Amino acid sequence: MSTDQKVALITGASQGIGAGLVKGFLERGYRVVANSRTIKPDAFGSPDVLTVAGDVSDLQAAERIVAAAIDHFGRIDTLVNNAGIFISKPFVDYAEADFAAMLSVNLAGFFHLSQRVARRMLERGTGHIVNLTAALAEQPQKAVPAALAALTKGGLNAVTRSLAIEFADRGVRVNAVAPGVIKTPMHAVRTHKILAGLQPVGRLGEIQEVVDAVLYLEAAAFVTGEILHVDGGAHAGRW
Ligand SMILES: NC(=O)c1ccc[n+]([C@@H]2O[C@H](COP(=O)([O-])OP(=O)(O)OC[C@H]3O[C@@H](n4cnc5c(N)ncnc54)[C@H](OP(=O)(O)O)[C@@H]3O)[C@@H](O)[C@H]2O)c1
Repeated sequence: MSTDQKVALITGASQGIGAGLVKGFLERGYRVVANSRTIKPDAFGSPDVLTVAGDVSDLQAAERIVAAAIDHFGRIDTLVNNAGIFISKPFVDYAEADFAAMLSVNLAGFFHLSQRVARRMLERGTGHIVNLTAALAEQPQKAVPAALAALTKGGLNAVTRSLAIEFADRGVRVNAVAPGVIKTPMHAVRTHKILAGLQPVGRLGEIQEVVDAVLYLEAAAFVTGEILHVDGGAHAGRW
């Protein structure tokens, strides 16, 4: 297959922000590798999309996803670490299983894929990694206790900056998008009204608003190490 068209690898792509990202990158003329644990082969009905099912927290699956992308499309220009889970509880109520799940998907998933993809990007001297973090990591809310989200997404914010500097003179950019509460299947519809009332702008964010931020960063060649907040103002202060 021709390798002159850019390729984006997007995790957590079966629904929500990830599915929106697949469409957004396709519209920009990219070919896309779309991953999630349960993604269907024909999920996007496009020859420009390769779906690869697998759990990003599993090292073998991460290796399989990257190998499939290279076998099929010959290159990976952009990695969007979008797969993530969110468990909100008072800190003392978190179970060991919650801790293990949050660390494995949000952090091990980032590590396995990013390390494998970054090696290739550094060899080619070009590439872009975008991490989906969360506004809650920097702007905690009393009404939504989420210490494990802060721990894991805050870690992703930190490593975004760290890798941006490590790779800055080698052609590889690393950025993050930190969403506030976005209207995706992550939040049951019955919770939308109350969640909207917790946002400075009084509404939930739309998937397209996050996709637009990722696509901005993708095109912004002089931007690296940025944590772009798409959170209706939550990071700006108190409200
Ligand atoms: N929605 C929000 O309000 C919000 C706010 C802040 C940050 N974010 C972040 O934005 C990202 C996307 O959120 P979303 O709302 O679109 O989530 P979502 O609707 O719950 O979708 C999550 C996606 O990740 C996949 N996934 C989950 N665990 C996985 C694993 N171990 N390996 C591979 N794929 C996995 C799911 O598919 P399978 O079940 O098929 O695996 C699904 O496609 C996440 O990182 C989330 O933390 C979201």
